[in-house]
Amino acid sequence: MEIKVNLEDRSYPIRIGDGMLSGLGRALLPLGLERKIALVSNPTVFSLYGGPALSSLEEAGFSVTVIRVPDGEEYKNLTWMEFIYGEMLKARLERGSCLVALGGGVIGDMTGFAASTYMRGMRYAQAPTTLLAQVDSSVGGKTGVNHALGKNMIGTFWQPSTVWIDTATLKTLPPAEFAAGMAEVIKYGVIKDRALFEYLETRAQRIKGLDPDCLRHIIGRSCEIKAEVVGKDEREAGLRAILNYGHTVGHALETLTKYKKYLHGQAVAIGMCAEAELAEKRGLLKPGVRERIKNLLRLYGLPTEIPAGLVDGEQMLKAMLLDKKVRDGRIRMALPEEIGSARIETMSAEQSLFI
Ligand SMILES: NC(=O)c1ccc[n+]([C@@H]2O[C@H](COP(=O)([O-])OP(=O)(O)OC[C@H]3O[C@@H](n4cnc5c(N)ncnc54)[C@H](O)[C@@H]3O)[C@@H](O)[C@H]2O)c1
Repeated sequence: MEIKVNLEDRSYPIRIGDGMLSGLGRALLPLGLERKIALVSNPTVFSLYGGPALSSLEEAGFSVTVIRVPDGEEYKNLTWMEFIYGEMLKARLERGSCLVALGGGVIGDMTGFAASTYMRGMRYAQAPTTLLAQVDSSVGGKTGVNHALGKNMIGTFWQPSTVWIDTATLKTLPPAEFAAGMAEVIKYGVIKDRALFEYLETRAQRIKGLDPDCLRHIIGRSCEIKAEVVGKDEREAGLRAILNYGHTVGHALETLTKYKKYLHGQAVAIGMCAEAELAEKRGLLKPGVRERIKNLLRLYGLPTEIPAGLVDGEQMLKAMLLDKKVRDGRIRMALPEEIGSARIETMSAEQSLFI
């Protein structure tokens, strides 16, 4: 299955299938790259998929330097970027070369950032191996690292040259990580695609059992939706903010729990429920729809409530005001109107405190 992200001279294909890793090298040939390239990964993913990825790249004629960064969000920082640049320089990578990100969103974000800044910009390919990366972070060109004072605060918009998704890699993904990725898939259903939402409701067993046809369908639809939104608003001037449904509250919750209690998708799941409640209170969402969203999140093993006593309203508000989308103290939130449709609402901090 192939999907195109349409961005004029920065357009690129997303290819999705079961057992695609062996074709990774061939996928890079049309880019007309230098022979020397680098594969960026972490030890966990490299021990599982580094072998086949490397063979595929070498069979296609590339000479590959492997760059490994430790596994974890805590290494997504400038110190480890410096390490990556050092490895690239030692390997004498040139501007006409390419980086290949093999891993989840952490590896993808760091690789994209390295590609966008090394010698003022080179190409990179995404080979995402978590569900979250396959449906979200590998598409759209947001790259970056964390700063001690804030997550994803240092970054660029830099589109990949190709996204190569092997759904078979999900077989080794821990179930909680799979569920976290499902939160983003459910989000696409709520904001843009009623049929996808219903598909997720009726085929949960097959999806959780990693049926390849179901995976291709849900990942494909998610990528199509993200590609369409990014194609219209690459730099988040307006429409792209729709993808943030669940994220305003979700990010605040992650910040307040110091990124230790929840995986990103779990926090987004709770955020989707809280924001649906706010939409209901503002008269945007019909009664009953919120319950349906909540039930679907539960079906995939996701949390839907903030545990009592974990955080208070005032703390949440302060954390939400740190969001990158806050303008002049007003919060911009993507709120659902019905299954398959959402809109951006701007409100004062007090109004958002309905949550
Ligand atoms: N750029 C964007 O648009 C965007 C969007 C959403 C999230 N993100 C970023 O993505 C990151 C989160 O990504 P993530 O959820 O993929 O986390 P991650 O990259 O940390 O991966 C989660 C864990 O799964 C392991 N793993 C990866 N693939 C595996 C596989 N196939 N089998 C077994 N284990 C595997 C990883 O080693 C890691 O331990 C965050 O840093 C977030 O800021 C970026």
